[in-house]
Amino acid sequence: MTNVPSACQILVNEAHPLPLDWVPDDLVDLWKVQPRHYLLPARQTRLAAPAADAANALFELAERDGFGDFMVLSAYRDSDYQAGLFAESDDGYVARPGRSEHQTGLAMDVSQLGRGMALDDEHIAWLAQNCWGFGFVVRYPKGSEDVTGIPPEPWHLRYVGRDAALEMREHGWVLEEWHTARSEARPD
Ligand code: DAL
Ligand code: ZN
Repeated sequence: MTNVPSACQILVNEAHPLPLDWVPDDLVDLWKVQPRHYLLPARQTRLAAPAADAANALFELAERDGFGDFMVLSAYRDSDYQAGLFAESDDGYVARPGRSEHQTGLAMDVSQLGRGMALDDEHIAWLAQNCWGFGFVVRYPKGSEDVTGIPPEPWHLRYVGRDAALEMREHGWVLEEWHTARSEARPD
C-alpha cells in the first residue's frame, strides 16, 4: 500500500467539498470516443480521461458478456447543474453542490436502454461483480449509508484506479474507509 492517494482517489462528500468553480482539466467528450461500447442518451456527456478509458473497457467486456445495452446517463456535472438537481430533490440521493463527486469527472450514473433511470437485477449484479477490475467501485453500496451519507445507488460508479478498487473489494471498504485506512498507515 502506498500512502499518498492519487488524484483519481480524491474523496468528495459532505465533509470534503470541492471549490464550486473547480473543473477537471482532462474531461473527455464521450461522443468522440470511438469505438464506444455503451449508449449515450445525451450529448455533452463528459468524464475525466482515465475514467473515460476505463468505462469503455468495462462496457466492452459487458458487450461480450451479452450486456450491450448499458447507457451512461450522467457523468461530469458542474456545481451549477448539481445545484439545480439538488433543488429538485428531497430524497437524499442528490449531493449538495460542491459535495458531489460528479464534479470530479470520475463518477458516472449507469442505466440500461428502455428502463429510464433503472437497472434490472442482472445488470446491477454484472456491474457489482465486474467494475473492480477496471478501477471502478459501486460508491454507495447498501449497508454503508452511515459512512457515505447517501442511500444505496447501484447505478453510481466511481473511478478510483484498479489497485485502490481491488483493495476496497478485498477489505469491504467504501472510499471513506479506504482513506481512513490510508491515513492510519501513513508514517508521522
Ligand atoms: N447521487 C450522488 C450522491 C450525487 O449527487 O453526487
Ligand atoms: Zn451519480
